[in-house]
Amino acid sequence: MNKGKFYITTPIYYPSANFHIGHCYTTIICDSIARYKRLDGYDTYFLTGSDEHGEKIEKKANEAGVTPKEYVDKIVDNSKDLWNALKITYDRFIRTTDEDHVKIVQHIFKKLYDQGDIYKGEYKGLYCTPCESFWTETQLVDGKCPDCGRDVHEVSEEAYFLKLSNYQDRLEKYLEEHPDFIQPESRKNEMINNFIKPGLEDLCVSRTSFKWGIPVTFDEKHVVYVWIDALSNYITALGYSTENDELFKKYWPADVHVVGKEIVRFHTIIWPIMLMALDLPLPKKVFGHGWLIIDGGKISKSLGNYKDPREYIASYGVDAVRYYSLREIPFGNDGNFSEELLVSRINSDLANIWGNLVSRTIGMANKYFDGNITNKKVNEDLDKEFISQINKLKSKCDENIDNLQISKVLEEIFDVLRLSNKYIDETTPWILAKDNSKKDRLETVLYNLLEAIRVTNILLRPFMPESTEKVVSYLNTNNNEFNDTLFKEDTKYKVAKEVTPLFERIK
Ligand code: MSP
Repeated sequence: MNKGKFYITTPIYYPSANFHIGHCYTTIICDSIARYKRLDGYDTYFLTGSDEHGEKIEKKANEAGVTPKEYVDKIVDNSKDLWNALKITYDRFIRTTDEDHVKIVQHIFKKLYDQGDIYKGEYKGLYCTPCESFWTETQLVDGKCPDCGRDVHEVSEEAYFLKLSNYQDRLEKYLEEHPDFIQPESRKNEMINNFIKPGLEDLCVSRTSFKWGIPVTFDEKHVVYVWIDALSNYITALGYSTENDELFKKYWPADVHVVGKEIVRFHTIIWPIMLMALDLPLPKKVFGHGWLIIDGGKISKSLGNYKDPREYIASYGVDAVRYYSLREIPFGNDGNFSEELLVSRINSDLANIWGNLVSRTIGMANKYFDGNITNKKVNEDLDKEFISQINKLKSKCDENIDNLQISKVLEEIFDVLRLSNKYIDETTPWILAKDNSKKDRLETVLYNLLEAIRVTNILLRPFMPESTEKVVSYLNTNNNEFNDTLFKEDTKYKVAKEVTPLFERIK
């Protein structure tokens, strides 16, 4: 069943240092949504990548005594390995040094220049090199960069500018007519009131003070400066403006760009204006999420306050890391990352609720029926509510996925798992087993539980690909697809004899 196309993107990350758990957070979320949509019958394209140019990387490479390309190659290899370890199923990892990207960015820059949207002027500003950001006097905090607290310095150079001011009215009108474009709502208000309404200033889009960038074809002392290069990735990856533009025709506009809160501004002002200037449709949605913080501060490459995420995977398994990232933080808010909280989630949810339900149910199916369970349909009143909760689950998940409320999706699924454990306590199979006349009731109870495990497991697949595969092998049935998420009356179970706990409790 093809339900149409779905195109989702992460930001492209700066490979100035190895990626940390904050980058994993965005990527795990996007991967889970992409997997969900794929399993749900959407023709899905999931893009991630790296944003490789700029003065900071040039400097880092110099310090390391290698070329910028050698420097980023190493980090990109490392991050692909990390995405592998996290089971990230991207369709393309775009690098802004990829030849096709470079050519298309040059084409975009020239086109915008030819049509008068880009012009040559002089740039004067306060610049923070580690953050690669320009600031105005009023944005500084105690005279320092408001993001990292370090010194800024004044720069003045010849530069090209993008005429954002020309598009102010169109952008405001677009945002009014598309109230869902920026999400969550709070970020939308921030963009409109703090950045758009006060008036858009033209944006510096080229630099002459460093070389590590895409050359402007018609003025070789300039390289394209950050945002035109970076934002274009969402269409260059699909072959925009080339002969090989089938992906572009099929997938553009994006269904959602998922980005961190500090770059919502670029995605909801500069990017829409670039697209308007190119006469292209705008993405359907930009979702700005909060940050993972450690000890009250942002996890940051420049502060170096983090562990390699593979260490968490090695200690707790990939699914636990994925689950924690997805479950702990209501999407949109900031949230604390700590190993202690990760462990407590493993124990309380994964081992106690889910793992326990699976081992108990399969254990009883083996003990009382040698693993063979069919539906004997000896139902009691409490089954009705239980089955109806199972049947409602898929549509609840769909709705939350569309609103990017992943922690709510997991909450809903775990509510049904919790309810299943309660159902065991209420039906007391071990007492039914003592009475031969209750044999069919006992088998019905176990059947209902196996159905609950089967349906929840299908819906958990996008989030925890490793453990759900285990459960599929324990249940040993074929009905494991998204269109099998209703309670079935006639599944024949022959469950595995031996099951290892899905998650070990951690002391
Ligand atoms: N290269 C630009 C994005 C260009 S997109 C066209 C960039 N790169 S970045 O590496 O600095 O950040 C990439 C993303 O990672 C941002 O969305 C940022 O919010 C996210 N995160 C970086 N640290 C983070 C946390 N501690 N927590 C959550 N997300 C974090 O900006």
